[in-house]
Amino acid sequence: MNDHAPRPASDTPVTVIGLGSMGQAIAAAFVGGGHPTTVWNRTASKADALVSKGAVLAKTPAEAIEAGGLVVVCVLDRGSAQEILGPVTDQLAGRSLLMLTSLTPTEANETSAWAAEKNIEFLGGAIMATPDLIGNPEEASLLYAGSSAVFESHKAALELLGTSTYLGDVAARASLLETGLLASMYSMFTGFFHGAALVGTEGITAKEFTALAVPWLKAMTTFLPGQAEFIDKGDYTTDVQSLEFNKGGLDHIIHISEDQGIGTSVMKPVAELIDRQIDQGHGPDSLARMIEGIKNPKA
Ligand SMILES: NC(=O)c1ccc[n+]([C@@H]2O[C@H](COP(=O)([O-])OP(=O)(O)OC[C@H]3O[C@@H](n4cnc5c(N)ncnc54)[C@H](OP(=O)(O)O)[C@@H]3O)[C@@H](O)[C@H]2O)c1
Repeated sequence: MNDHAPRPASDTPVTVIGLGSMGQAIAAAFVGGGHPTTVWNRTASKADALVSKGAVLAKTPAEAIEAGGLVVVCVLDRGSAQEILGPVTDQLAGRSLLMLTSLTPTEANETSAWAAEKNIEFLGGAIMATPDLIGNPEEASLLYAGSSAVFESHKAALELLGTSTYLGDVAARASLLETGLLASMYSMFTGFFHGAALVGTEGITAKEFTALAVPWLKAMTTFLPGQAEFIDKGDYTTDVQSLEFNKGGLDHIIHISEDQGIGTSVMKPVAELIDRQIDQGHGPDSLARMIEGIKNPKA
């Protein structure tokens, strides 16, 4: 190969700072993909297994940064990332920094602004996976926001971790989207728990319930794109599934739950969101209008 020929992506040296359970999985995926991989961790012994597979253990964060075309930081939180990176900003200048440490949207934007000031190319990421799923594109999804140059030039390496989605140059977006997905997940689980508690009052097991709940919930997800259309247009006019129609259903669920002697703390806030919109005269509108009460808790 001559000096000017493009190098295969797996030649790109990568550095992983932070070898907790997630950092170790990330570094292992890079090593497995053939990337020269340098690692650093406060507790050096956590690098042993990676070193036996070919990773190089740096003695200091500065040494680790010098080795990497892409520097990935995956430590506990923003505070620990700052402790590590604060003293080595000179080494980071001109380099690509991928922050896979979980940050809030505000922290991500502040970190992005700090990086811009220090001439560091910054990409933020959110990991929608547990460490055991890293390296499996069907199960691990990673959301990225920040420098498109970092994302594009290291896409092949990032694909080794899981499916990659780039969300634009505002760093907060990755963390915000992650939080939105988690909020959807917790609400779905909580609704499922309410249903399981309800059917359990007549001896139906959670397993029996699940056999019907899984296809039901899957079928319901087909309505999400339609709901999204109402939300994005801000026009909730409909002739099906109005708030008034759904109020009947919710009142029914609350009434039956009380009759069966279980709590209503999951369903009552849902009914309240519907009632608030109806009280404001929006009864004929789509159920999607509930989002207005979430966006503005006083509305
Ligand atoms: N695990 C998951 O399922 C998961 C999923 C999505 C996102 N994440 C995110 O990934 C990041 C890492 O998570 P993890 O599961 O790998 O956590 P972890 O297993 O608890 O590891 C924490 C890492 O942070 C380092 N650390 C903590 N405080 C430090 C300090 N003051 N100075 C230097 N290093 C410090 C630890 O070093 P020592 O080894 O020396 O203690 C270790 O490398 C977190 O932001 C987490 O939210 C994790």
